[in-house]
Amino acid sequence: MTESLGVNDTFPRGGRRLSDPAVNAVTGELVGRKAYLVGTGHCVPDRVLTNKDLEQIVDTSDEWITTRTGIKERRITNDQTSTSDLAIVAVEEALEMAGWGPKDVDCMIVATVTPDYIFPSTAAIVSDKLGMNNIPAYDFEAGCSGFIYGLIQAKCFIGSGMLDRVVVLGAECLTKITNWEDRTTCVLFGDGAGAAAIGPEGPGGELGGWHWGSDGSLGDLLELPAGGSRKPASKETVKANEHTLRMKGNETFKYAVRAMRDSCLKALDMDGTPKSEVDLLVPHQANYRIIDATARALELRPEQVYVNIDKYGNTSAASIPMALDEAVRKGEVTPPKNVVLAAFGAGLTWAGMLLKWKEEEGL
Ligand SMILES: CC(C)(COP(=O)(O)OP(=O)(O)OC[C@H]1O[C@@H](n2cnc3c(N)ncnc32)[C@H](O)[C@@H]1OP(=O)(O)O)[C@@H](O)C(=O)NCCC(=O)NCCS
Repeated sequence: MTESLGVNDTFPRGGRRLSDPAVNAVTGELVGRKAYLVGTGHCVPDRVLTNKDLEQIVDTSDEWITTRTGIKERRITNDQTSTSDLAIVAVEEALEMAGWGPKDVDCMIVATVTPDYIFPSTAAIVSDKLGMNNIPAYDFEAGCSGFIYGLIQAKCFIGSGMLDRVVVLGAECLTKITNWEDRTTCVLFGDGAGAAAIGPEGPGGELGGWHWGSDGSLGDLLELPAGGSRKPASKETVKANEHTLRMKGNETFKYAVRAMRDSCLKALDMDGTPKSEVDLLVPHQANYRIIDATARALELRPEQVYVNIDKYGNTSAASIPMALDEAVRKGEVTPPKNVVLAAFGAGLTWAGMLLKWKEEEGL
Protein backbone atom coordinates (compact mmCIF):
# COMPACT_ATOMS: atom_id res chain seq x y z
CA MET A 1 0.00 0.00 0.00
CA THR A 2 1.32 3.43 -0.91
CA GLU A 3 2.57 5.95 1.60
CA SER A 4 1.87 8.83 -0.74
CA LEU A 5 -1.06 10.06 1.32
CA GLY A 6 0.99 10.14 4.49
CA VAL A 7 3.98 12.33 3.72
CA ASN A 8 4.37 16.05 4.18
CA ASP A 9 3.77 17.33 0.69
CA THR A 10 0.98 14.79 0.50
CA PHE A 11 -0.47 15.77 -2.84
CA PRO A 12 1.42 17.20 -5.77
CA ARG A 13 0.17 20.64 -6.81
CA GLY A 14 -2.99 20.21 -8.87
CA GLY A 15 -1.90 22.77 -11.49
CA ARG A 16 -0.24 26.11 -12.03
CA ARG A 17 -0.65 29.23 -9.89
CA LEU A 18 -3.69 31.27 -10.89
CA SER A 19 -1.52 34.27 -11.68
CA ASP A 20 0.33 32.33 -14.41
CA PRO A 21 -0.94 33.12 -17.93
CA ALA A 22 -2.96 30.46 -19.78
CA VAL A 23 -2.44 29.59 -23.42
CA ASN A 24 -5.25 28.78 -25.84
CA ALA A 25 -4.35 25.32 -27.11
CA VAL A 26 -5.83 26.05 -30.55
CA THR A 27 -4.75 29.63 -31.29
CA GLY A 28 -1.72 29.85 -29.00
CA GLU A 29 -2.98 33.23 -27.70
CA LEU A 30 -2.70 34.11 -24.05
CA VAL A 31 -6.11 33.90 -22.45
CA GLY A 32 -7.38 34.03 -18.91
CA ARG A 33 -11.15 34.28 -18.88
CA LYS A 34 -12.78 33.75 -15.54
CA ALA A 35 -15.50 31.17 -15.04
CA TYR A 36 -18.53 31.74 -12.83
CA LEU A 37 -21.10 29.50 -11.24
CA VAL A 38 -24.35 31.18 -12.26
CA GLY A 39 -26.99 28.56 -11.50
CA THR A 40 -27.54 25.51 -9.32
CA GLY A 41 -30.25 22.87 -8.99
CA HIS A 42 -30.86 19.52 -7.39
CA CYS A 43 -33.31 16.66 -7.28
CA VAL A 44 -33.89 13.77 -4.88
CA PRO A 45 -36.45 10.98 -5.13
CA ASP A 46 -39.53 11.27 -2.88
CA ARG A 47 -39.12 7.97 -1.05
CA VAL A 48 -37.45 8.32 2.36
CA LEU A 49 -35.65 5.40 4.03
CA THR A 50 -35.05 6.14 7.71
CA ASN A 51 -32.60 4.54 10.12
CA LYS A 52 -35.61 2.98 11.83
CA ASP A 53 -36.60 1.39 8.50
CA LEU A 54 -33.07 -0.04 8.20
CA GLU A 55 -33.40 -1.61 11.65
CA GLN A 56 -35.99 -3.91 10.00
CA ILE A 57 -33.59 -4.90 7.21
CA VAL A 58 -30.19 -5.46 8.91
CA ASP A 59 -28.79 -5.75 12.43
CA THR A 60 -28.27 -2.04 13.10
CA SER A 61 -29.73 0.79 15.16
CA ASP A 62 -30.65 4.42 14.68
CA GLU A 63 -28.26 5.20 17.54
CA TRP A 64 -25.26 3.45 15.85
CA ILE A 65 -25.86 5.07 12.46
CA THR A 66 -26.45 8.54 13.92
CA THR A 67 -23.43 8.59 16.21
CA ARG A 68 -21.00 6.97 13.72
CA THR A 69 -22.09 8.84 10.60
CA GLY A 70 -24.56 11.68 11.28
CA ILE A 71 -27.08 10.10 8.88
CA LYS A 72 -30.75 9.95 9.93
CA GLU A 73 -32.39 9.14 6.60
CA ARG A 74 -31.67 8.92 2.88
CA ARG A 75 -33.70 9.09 -0.36
CA ILE A 76 -34.10 6.06 -2.59
CA THR A 77 -35.32 5.69 -6.15
CA ASN A 78 -37.91 3.17 -7.28
CA ASP A 79 -37.47 0.57 -10.04
CA GLN A 80 -38.69 3.00 -12.72
CA THR A 81 -36.30 5.84 -11.87
CA SER A 82 -32.66 6.09 -12.91
CA THR A 83 -29.81 8.58 -12.66
CA SER A 84 -30.80 10.56 -15.78
CA ASP A 85 -34.33 11.15 -14.42
CA LEU A 86 -32.93 12.90 -11.34
CA ALA A 87 -30.28 14.68 -13.42
CA ILE A 88 -32.82 16.21 -15.81
CA VAL A 89 -34.71 17.94 -12.99
CA ALA A 90 -31.47 19.20 -11.43
CA VAL A 91 -30.35 20.68 -14.78
CA GLU A 92 -33.74 22.33 -15.38
CA GLU A 93 -33.47 24.08 -12.01
CA ALA A 94 -29.88 25.20 -12.66
CA LEU A 95 -30.77 26.56 -16.11
CA GLU A 96 -33.73 28.45 -14.69
CA MET A 97 -31.54 30.09 -12.04
CA ALA A 98 -28.92 30.96 -14.68
CA GLY A 99 -31.56 32.35 -17.05
CA TRP A 100 -30.34 30.00 -19.80
CA GLY A 101 -32.43 27.96 -22.21
CA PRO A 102 -31.37 24.43 -23.25
CA LYS A 103 -29.99 25.79 -26.53
CA ASP A 104 -27.59 28.11 -24.65
CA VAL A 105 -25.60 25.18 -23.28
CA ASP A 106 -22.32 24.30 -25.08
CA CYS A 107 -21.34 21.16 -23.17
CA MET A 108 -22.75 18.74 -20.58
CA ILE A 109 -20.48 16.84 -18.20
CA VAL A 110 -21.87 14.21 -15.83
CA ALA A 111 -19.83 12.82 -12.93
CA THR A 112 -21.32 9.50 -11.88
CA VAL A 113 -20.47 5.98 -10.75
CA THR A 114 -24.05 4.88 -11.39
CA PRO A 115 -24.85 5.90 -14.98
CA ASP A 116 -28.08 4.68 -16.58
CA TYR A 117 -25.93 2.40 -18.77
CA ILE A 118 -22.20 1.86 -19.27
CA PHE A 119 -23.06 3.35 -22.65
CA PRO A 120 -24.74 5.44 -24.00
CA SER A 121 -23.66 8.10 -21.55
CA THR A 122 -26.09 9.63 -19.08
CA ALA A 123 -24.93 13.05 -20.30
CA ALA A 124 -26.06 12.27 -23.85
CA ILE A 125 -29.43 11.03 -22.57
CA VAL A 126 -29.96 14.15 -20.45
CA SER A 127 -28.91 16.61 -23.16
CA ASP A 128 -31.16 14.88 -25.69
CA LYS A 129 -34.18 14.81 -23.38
CA LEU A 130 -33.70 18.50 -22.59
CA GLY A 131 -33.53 19.43 -26.29
CA MET A 132 -29.97 20.68 -26.35
CA ASN A 133 -28.12 21.39 -29.61
CA ASN A 134 -26.21 18.14 -30.34
CA ILE A 135 -23.61 19.41 -27.90
CA PRO A 136 -20.58 17.48 -26.63
CA ALA A 137 -21.88 15.44 -23.70
CA TYR A 138 -19.98 12.86 -21.71
CA ASP A 139 -19.84 10.99 -18.41
CA PHE A 140 -16.72 10.50 -16.37
CA GLU A 141 -15.99 8.71 -13.14
CA ALA A 142 -13.96 10.10 -10.27
CA GLY A 143 -16.00 8.73 -7.37
CA CYS A 144 -17.27 11.26 -4.88
CA SER A 145 -14.73 13.84 -6.10
CA GLY A 146 -16.42 13.87 -9.53
CA PHE A 147 -18.32 17.13 -9.21
CA ILE A 148 -15.21 19.15 -8.35
CA TYR A 149 -13.29 17.35 -11.13
CA GLY A 150 -16.12 18.53 -13.43
CA LEU A 151 -15.84 22.13 -12.21
CA ILE A 152 -12.11 22.06 -12.92
CA GLN A 153 -12.80 20.84 -16.48
CA ALA A 154 -15.43 23.56 -16.99
CA LYS A 155 -13.03 26.23 -15.71
CA CYS A 156 -10.45 24.99 -18.18
CA PHE A 157 -12.86 24.96 -21.14
CA ILE A 158 -14.15 28.44 -20.36
CA GLY A 159 -10.78 29.91 -19.33
CA SER A 160 -9.17 28.73 -22.57
CA GLY A 161 -11.92 30.23 -24.68
CA MET A 162 -12.95 26.83 -26.02
CA LEU A 163 -16.49 26.94 -24.67
CA ASP A 164 -18.80 29.53 -23.12
CA ARG A 165 -21.48 27.72 -21.15
CA VAL A 166 -20.99 24.35 -19.48
CA VAL A 167 -23.36 22.33 -17.29
CA VAL A 168 -21.64 20.16 -14.68
CA LEU A 169 -23.60 17.45 -12.91
CA GLY A 170 -23.05 14.98 -10.11
CA ALA A 171 -25.81 12.38 -10.32
CA GLU A 172 -26.16 9.02 -8.62
CA CYS A 173 -28.48 6.14 -7.80
CA LEU A 174 -26.19 4.45 -5.27
CA THR A 175 -29.01 2.43 -3.74
CA LYS A 176 -29.08 0.45 -7.01
CA ILE A 177 -25.57 -0.87 -6.28
CA THR A 178 -26.08 -1.33 -2.55
CA ASN A 179 -25.86 -4.73 -0.86
CA TRP A 180 -28.88 -4.64 1.43
CA GLU A 181 -27.49 -7.53 3.48
CA ASP A 182 -24.26 -5.69 4.36
CA ARG A 183 -24.88 -3.47 7.38
CA THR A 184 -21.43 -1.89 7.09
CA THR A 185 -22.36 -0.18 3.79
CA CYS A 186 -26.13 -0.21 3.24
CA VAL A 187 -26.75 2.38 5.95
CA LEU A 188 -24.46 4.94 4.30
CA PHE A 189 -25.69 5.69 0.78
CA GLY A 190 -28.57 7.50 -0.92
CA ASP A 191 -29.73 8.76 -4.33
CA GLY A 192 -29.80 12.28 -5.78
CA ALA A 193 -28.50 14.68 -8.41
CA GLY A 194 -27.06 18.19 -8.36
CA ALA A 195 -26.21 20.50 -11.25
CA ALA A 196 -24.27 23.70 -11.81
CA ALA A 197 -24.36 26.11 -14.76
CA ILE A 198 -20.90 27.60 -15.40
CA GLY A 199 -20.36 30.56 -17.70
CA PRO A 200 -17.78 33.26 -18.55
CA GLU A 201 -19.67 36.13 -16.94
CA GLY A 202 -21.06 36.85 -13.48
CA PRO A 203 -22.87 37.65 -11.39
CA GLY A 204 -22.00 34.42 -9.64
CA GLY A 205 -19.36 32.54 -7.76
CA GLU A 206 -15.98 32.76 -9.49
CA LEU A 207 -14.25 29.38 -9.79
CA GLY A 208 -10.99 30.04 -7.94
CA GLY A 209 -8.03 27.92 -6.85
CA TRP A 210 -8.34 24.18 -7.06
CA HIS A 211 -6.60 20.96 -6.27
CA TRP A 212 -7.18 17.42 -7.56
CA GLY A 213 -5.44 14.07 -7.37
CA SER A 214 -5.75 10.30 -7.17
CA ASP A 215 -4.00 7.20 -5.88
CA GLY A 216 -5.00 3.99 -7.69
CA SER A 217 -2.99 1.81 -5.33
CA LEU A 218 -5.78 2.37 -2.79
CA GLY A 219 -8.55 1.42 -5.23
CA ASP A 220 -9.53 -1.71 -3.36
CA LEU A 221 -10.73 0.29 -0.36
CA LEU A 222 -13.93 1.14 -2.19
CA GLU A 223 -14.94 -0.85 -5.24
CA LEU A 224 -17.64 -2.44 -7.37
CA PRO A 225 -15.94 -5.75 -8.15
CA ALA A 226 -17.80 -7.01 -11.25
CA GLY A 227 -19.50 -5.77 -14.38
CA GLY A 228 -16.44 -4.22 -16.00
CA SER A 229 -13.94 -5.75 -18.43
CA ARG A 230 -11.85 -7.24 -15.57
CA LYS A 231 -14.78 -9.34 -14.37
CA PRO A 232 -17.73 -9.24 -16.76
CA ALA A 233 -21.21 -10.05 -15.47
CA SER A 234 -21.85 -13.77 -15.16
CA LYS A 235 -24.07 -16.09 -13.16
CA GLU A 236 -21.19 -16.45 -10.70
CA THR A 237 -20.73 -12.70 -10.19
CA VAL A 238 -24.44 -12.27 -9.59
CA LYS A 239 -24.50 -15.16 -7.13
CA ALA A 240 -21.49 -13.73 -5.28
CA ASN A 241 -23.18 -10.31 -5.05
CA GLU A 242 -20.26 -8.71 -6.88
CA HIS A 243 -22.42 -6.09 -8.59
CA THR A 244 -22.80 -4.23 -5.31
CA LEU A 245 -20.25 -1.94 -3.71
CA ARG A 246 -17.66 -3.05 -1.17
CA MET A 247 -15.86 -0.77 1.22
CA LYS A 248 -13.17 -1.05 3.89
CA GLY A 249 -14.76 1.69 5.94
CA ASN A 250 -12.21 2.07 8.66
CA GLU A 251 -9.20 2.50 6.36
CA THR A 252 -11.18 4.69 3.98
CA PHE A 253 -12.01 6.94 6.92
CA LYS A 254 -8.35 7.59 7.71
CA TYR A 255 -7.49 8.63 4.17
CA ALA A 256 -10.68 10.65 3.79
CA VAL A 257 -9.82 12.92 6.70
CA ARG A 258 -6.34 13.68 5.33
CA ALA A 259 -7.44 14.04 1.73
CA MET A 260 -10.32 16.41 2.46
CA ARG A 261 -8.13 18.62 4.65
CA ASP A 262 -5.23 18.75 2.20
CA SER A 263 -7.48 19.35 -0.82
CA CYS A 264 -8.99 22.49 0.69
CA LEU A 265 -5.70 23.82 1.99
CA LYS A 266 -4.01 23.33 -1.39
CA ALA A 267 -6.90 24.93 -3.29
CA LEU A 268 -6.69 27.94 -0.97
CA ASP A 269 -2.92 28.05 -1.37
CA MET A 270 -3.22 28.07 -5.16
CA ASP A 271 -5.73 30.90 -4.93
CA GLY A 272 -3.57 32.89 -2.53
CA THR A 273 -6.49 33.09 -0.09
CA PRO A 274 -5.76 32.39 3.59
CA LYS A 275 -8.02 29.98 5.47
CA SER A 276 -9.05 32.86 7.76
CA GLU A 277 -10.95 34.30 4.75
CA VAL A 278 -13.12 31.21 4.21
CA ASP A 279 -16.76 31.91 5.05
CA LEU A 280 -18.39 28.57 4.28
CA LEU A 281 -17.30 24.97 3.74
CA VAL A 282 -19.50 22.82 1.51
CA PRO A 283 -17.93 19.39 1.91
CA HIS A 284 -18.68 15.99 0.43
CA GLN A 285 -21.21 14.44 2.79
CA ALA A 286 -19.77 10.99 3.60
CA ASN A 287 -19.59 11.04 7.37
CA TYR A 288 -20.20 13.83 9.85
CA ARG A 289 -16.96 13.01 11.66
CA ILE A 290 -14.94 13.51 8.44
CA ILE A 291 -16.73 16.82 7.81
CA ASP A 292 -16.03 17.94 11.37
CA ALA A 293 -12.31 17.11 11.08
CA THR A 294 -12.11 19.10 7.81
CA ALA A 295 -13.87 22.07 9.41
CA ARG A 296 -11.46 21.96 12.33
CA ALA A 297 -8.47 21.97 9.97
CA LEU A 298 -9.87 25.18 8.44
CA GLU A 299 -10.63 26.58 11.92
CA LEU A 300 -14.28 27.09 11.01
CA ARG A 301 -17.20 27.39 13.41
CA PRO A 302 -20.06 24.85 13.04
CA GLU A 303 -22.34 27.46 11.46
CA GLN A 304 -19.72 27.94 8.70
CA VAL A 305 -20.14 24.36 7.50
CA TYR A 306 -23.02 23.24 5.32
CA VAL A 307 -24.27 19.82 6.42
CA ASN A 308 -27.21 17.87 5.03
CA ILE A 309 -25.89 14.32 5.50
CA ASP A 310 -28.65 13.74 8.08
CA LYS A 311 -31.28 13.95 5.30
CA TYR A 312 -29.54 12.33 2.34
CA GLY A 313 -26.61 10.16 3.47
CA ASN A 314 -23.69 9.83 1.07
CA THR A 315 -24.80 10.54 -2.51
CA SER A 316 -21.27 10.38 -3.94
CA ALA A 317 -20.70 12.81 -6.84
CA ALA A 318 -24.12 14.39 -6.20
CA SER A 319 -23.49 15.37 -2.60
CA ILE A 320 -21.60 18.65 -3.11
CA PRO A 321 -23.85 20.13 -5.83
CA MET A 322 -26.94 19.13 -3.82
CA ALA A 323 -25.57 20.80 -0.69
CA LEU A 324 -24.38 23.84 -2.66
CA ASP A 325 -27.81 24.29 -4.23
CA GLU A 326 -29.50 24.07 -0.83
CA ALA A 327 -27.05 26.59 0.63
CA VAL A 328 -27.60 29.00 -2.29
CA ARG A 329 -31.40 28.74 -2.11
CA LYS A 330 -31.38 29.25 1.67
CA GLY A 331 -29.44 32.49 1.20
CA GLU A 332 -26.30 31.14 2.88
CA VAL A 333 -24.16 32.24 -0.06
CA THR A 334 -25.08 35.92 -0.04
CA PRO A 335 -22.00 37.83 -1.29
CA PRO A 336 -19.32 38.53 -0.34
CA LYS A 337 -18.54 34.92 0.48
CA ASN A 338 -15.60 32.60 -0.02
CA VAL A 339 -16.97 29.07 -0.24
CA VAL A 340 -14.62 26.13 -0.19
CA LEU A 341 -15.57 22.71 -1.61
CA ALA A 342 -13.78 19.51 -0.60
CA ALA A 343 -14.26 15.90 -1.66
CA PHE A 344 -12.81 12.46 -1.41
CA GLY A 345 -13.88 9.20 -3.01
CA ALA A 346 -13.35 5.92 -4.81
CA GLY A 347 -10.21 5.69 -6.91
CA LEU A 348 -9.01 6.91 -4.52
CA THR A 349 -9.56 10.48 -5.65
CA TRP A 350 -9.65 13.84 -3.92
CA ALA A 351 -10.36 17.42 -4.93
CA GLY A 352 -10.94 20.91 -3.58
CA MET A 353 -11.99 24.25 -5.05
CA LEU A 354 -12.60 27.80 -3.83
CA LEU A 355 -15.68 29.64 -5.12
CA LYS A 356 -15.60 33.41 -4.66
CA TRP A 357 -18.78 35.44 -4.58
CA LYS A 358 -17.88 39.14 -4.66
CA GLU A 359 -20.10 41.93 -3.27
CA GLU A 360 -21.47 42.90 -6.70
CA GLU A 361 -21.79 39.31 -7.86
CA GLY A 362 -24.87 37.81 -6.20
CA LEU A 363 -26.10 34.58 -7.74
C1 LIG B 1 -18.27 3.09 7.70
C2 LIG B 1 -18.03 3.80 9.00
C3 LIG B 1 -19.22 4.67 9.33
C4 LIG B 1 -17.85 2.79 10.11
O1 LIG B 1 -17.58 3.44 11.33
P1 LIG B 1 -16.39 2.93 12.25
O2 LIG B 1 -16.41 3.78 13.45
O3 LIG B 1 -15.14 2.97 11.39
O4 LIG B 1 -16.85 1.48 12.57
P2 LIG B 1 -16.07 0.11 12.34
O5 LIG B 1 -16.03 -0.22 10.89
O6 LIG B 1 -14.76 0.18 13.09
O7 LIG B 1 -17.03 -0.89 13.07
C5 LIG B 1 -17.22 -0.84 14.49
C6 LIG B 1 -18.21 -1.92 14.88
O8 LIG B 1 -19.52 -1.55 14.40
C7 LIG B 1 -20.07 -2.65 13.66
N1 LIG B 1 -20.94 -2.10 12.62
C8 LIG B 1 -20.61 -1.80 11.35
N2 LIG B 1 -21.69 -1.34 10.71
C9 LIG B 1 -22.71 -1.33 11.60
C10 LIG B 1 -24.07 -0.94 11.53
N3 LIG B 1 -24.62 -0.45 10.42
N4 LIG B 1 -24.82 -1.06 12.64
C11 LIG B 1 -24.30 -1.55 13.78
N5 LIG B 1 -23.02 -1.95 13.90
C12 LIG B 1 -22.23 -1.82 12.83
C13 LIG B 1 -18.89 -3.40 13.11
O9 LIG B 1 -19.24 -4.70 12.78
C14 LIG B 1 -17.91 -3.29 14.25
O10 LIG B 1 -18.26 -4.26 15.21
P3 LIG B 1 -17.13 -5.07 16.02
O11 LIG B 1 -16.37 -4.01 16.76
O12 LIG B 1 -17.91 -5.98 16.86
O13 LIG B 1 -16.30 -5.75 14.97
C15 LIG B 1 -16.76 4.70 8.93
O14 LIG B 1 -15.62 3.85 8.90
C16 LIG B 1 -16.73 5.58 7.73
O15 LIG B 1 -17.54 6.47 7.60
N6 LIG B 1 -15.76 5.39 6.82
C17 LIG B 1 -15.56 6.23 5.68
C18 LIG B 1 -16.61 5.92 4.70
C19 LIG B 1 -16.56 6.82 3.54
O16 LIG B 1 -16.29 7.97 3.68
N7 LIG B 1 -16.84 6.25 2.41
C20 LIG B 1 -17.06 6.89 1.21
C21 LIG B 1 -15.93 7.65 0.71
S1 LIG B 1 -16.65 8.73 -0.40
